[in-house]
Amino acid sequence: MDAMKFASRIIAWQRTHGRHQLPWQQTRDPYRVWLSEIMLQQTQVSAVIPYYEKFLARFPDVATLANAPAGDVMAHWAGLGYYARARNLHACAQSVMRDWHGQFPSRAEDLESLPGIGRSTAGAIAAFCAGIRAPILDGNVRRVLSRHFAIDGDPTSAGTIARLWELAQSLLPSQAACRRDPNAMASYTQGLMDLGACVCTRSAPNCIACPLAGSCIARADNRTHELPPPRARRAQPEREVGVLIAIHRGMFLLERRAPKGIWGGLWSLPEFEAELDAPTACDEIGLVAASIQPMASFSHTFTHFRLIIHPWLVHAQSLAAGGAQPVHREWIDANALDRAGMPAPVRKLLSEVIAAGLVEP
Ligand code: ADE
Repeated sequence: MDAMKFASRIIAWQRTHGRHQLPWQQTRDPYRVWLSEIMLQQTQVSAVIPYYEKFLARFPDVATLANAPAGDVMAHWAGLGYYARARNLHACAQSVMRDWHGQFPSRAEDLESLPGIGRSTAGAIAAFCAGIRAPILDGNVRRVLSRHFAIDGDPTSAGTIARLWELAQSLLPSQAACRRDPNAMASYTQGLMDLGACVCTRSAPNCIACPLAGSCIARADNRTHELPPPRARRAQPEREVGVLIAIHRGMFLLERRAPKGIWGGLWSLPEFEAELDAPTACDEIGLVAASIQPMASFSHTFTHFRLIIHPWLVHAQSLAAGGAQPVHREWIDANALDRAGMPAPVRKLLSEVIAAGLVEP
């Protein structure tokens, strides 16, 4: 199918059937668009919206974000996951202030040189804020293109990825179309995203509602269910740790994690090697236990490994704890947990302990 029809169908469809009320769509402010695009990487719209609004209320512009303490930024990201995004976000704001006189660049190539902005995110920001003809290729768009053009190579291979990028570039609205219609790139880019998220979904595509159905090869060949081919699953490495849920007088013993590494900078539970037993782990941090009991184990999947967590409920005899380690630990009131930025699985675990009435001995 020719590129002009592909783009013009998406634009027309977006304008009548696409999403227009998402909180980051009412603006061309690159700070707001950038923030939304980073939050939306690997995270659903419905999960992002409350974070986006709270984040903007605390950090209304790039200068405020750049000057904020890292701990504050992490606390406002806590629960969204993929915390490298928050560290890069802060570094990116600082680079915009230092290297770009406080103004985000417009060109996709310049945006891509900033921390945490990959090629697709750069394309989206350039298209939304400046109407620049730059392609995007996130997971949703990859699915739309793979189906429409029946691309069935290994989706992780460099060859397939290069082919998809070339397609994405070749399908953009023409320069003439963009001159005629200054919103063409914004509508087109949003339309591709909306189509991938709402119509060309992974397991139940709604082809009847799709503006591209007439030219879609996967649909013609009845192959939507097998395209794109699934990624080859690598065996996920696993790690196991024990954690102490130490409680005394309605307070939990929490520690701030090192700035780098998983859950960097967030408040979490004292952690120990799974081979060690919980009483020894208590001794090592000077925690005097009145009782120790195991709780149900659970796992959490990170990008590169699976963490199996064995929690131990410890009712402490006193507020003594600390040990000689260089780790910052504090007893934090069970009613004040929301003020400490915590990873979602840890916050959930503590909510369950509170709901089960285990905070009082
Ligand atoms: N996912 C990534 N960017 C998005 C956007 N601008 N709107 C909706 N979903 C998205």
